[in-house]
Amino acid sequence: MILVTGASGTVGGETARLLAEGGHRARLLLRDPARLPDPRPAAEVVVGDYDDPEALRAAMSGVRAALIVTADPSAPRHDAALVRAARQAGARRLVKLSALAVANPAADDLITRWQREAEETVRSSGLEYTLLRPRAFMSNTLGWAEEIRRTGTVRAWPVDAPSACVDPRDVAAVAVRALTEPGHAGCAYPLTGPRALTVRQQVAVLAHALGRPLAVEELSEGELRRRLARRWPEPLADALAEMAARRLDGGTARVDPTVEKLLGRPARDYSQWVSEHLSAFR
Ligand SMILES: NC(=O)c1ccc[n+]([C@@H]2O[C@H](COP(=O)([O-])OP(=O)(O)OC[C@H]3O[C@@H](n4cnc5c(N)ncnc54)[C@H](OP(=O)(O)O)[C@@H]3O)[C@@H](O)[C@H]2O)c1
Repeated sequence: MILVTGASGTVGGETARLLAEGGHRARLLLRDPARLPDPRPAAEVVVGDYDDPEALRAAMSGVRAALIVTADPSAPRHDAALVRAARQAGARRLVKLSALAVANPAADDLITRWQREAEETVRSSGLEYTLLRPRAFMSNTLGWAEEIRRTGTVRAWPVDAPSACVDPRDVAAVAVRALTEPGHAGCAYPLTGPRALTVRQQVAVLAHALGRPLAVEELSEGELRRRLARRWPEPLADALAEMAARRLDGGTARVDPTVEKLLGRPARDYSQWVSEHLSAFR
């Protein structure tokens, strides 16, 4: 049995779907059954929060391998609780969704520090582990969808600094390999897309696919920070702004061959991702 946590989220949902397609027995942990991936994959479901030890016990029971996805940088206890429950249940293998910034010594924002601590929690668990370290997800551009539909303009910062963004489906495909195959223990995988793109280039791909012109308006760093602070608690908004600023020094542009090596096919391109999510932008 394989447990997928964060199963209502981006990578967990894709992982659940790919595991079901591959005929693997899977269990999904989510806190709201109404947020099951659509279409619903063939899998068991356990409902519960990472703060609920009983739910974690039920979720981990009989599990051989687990995908660990946490999302709250103010709660490192979530990774600790999941690892504890995995050990107590006799699970053998953990696959942890981390982030590529952890490998950049210059990255010291709240989110990256939290991911480093979570990696250490997993590494010191005594269980087999694999660390997935993706660059920014292509799906983050869904955050532009409402503004594109309403105004035909993307407002962002910085707009001319490249990032080797990755399709979360590739992250999930690597997760499935690490959960189900031998040979991934102790590995930390940098996961990027096939080329680095700036915001302006991503918007050009979207405009081409939509068949209509889209404008790009560059915000100032301060404007980005204020926009983030309207949506997120201030420490998180600050961390996200720091992450955006790191694009400027070219540190996010490096394309890594790991996705292609592991999957035996090229990493998925942004235009492929766009073609499958176009309805969100129309
Ligand atoms: N986005 C990026 O560009 C990017 C890049 C690199 C790494 N990452 C890392 O990827 C991870 C997020 O993955 P994602 O984008 O696939 O997830 P996501 O779409 O943000 O969803 C988060 C998942 O975690 C669940 N969750 C959050 N808190 C929970 C709790 N207390 N108890 C139970 N479930 C809880 C959510 O459940 P609900 O549906 O109930 O909220 C949801 O299923 C983060 O660690 C992030 O740092 C993201």
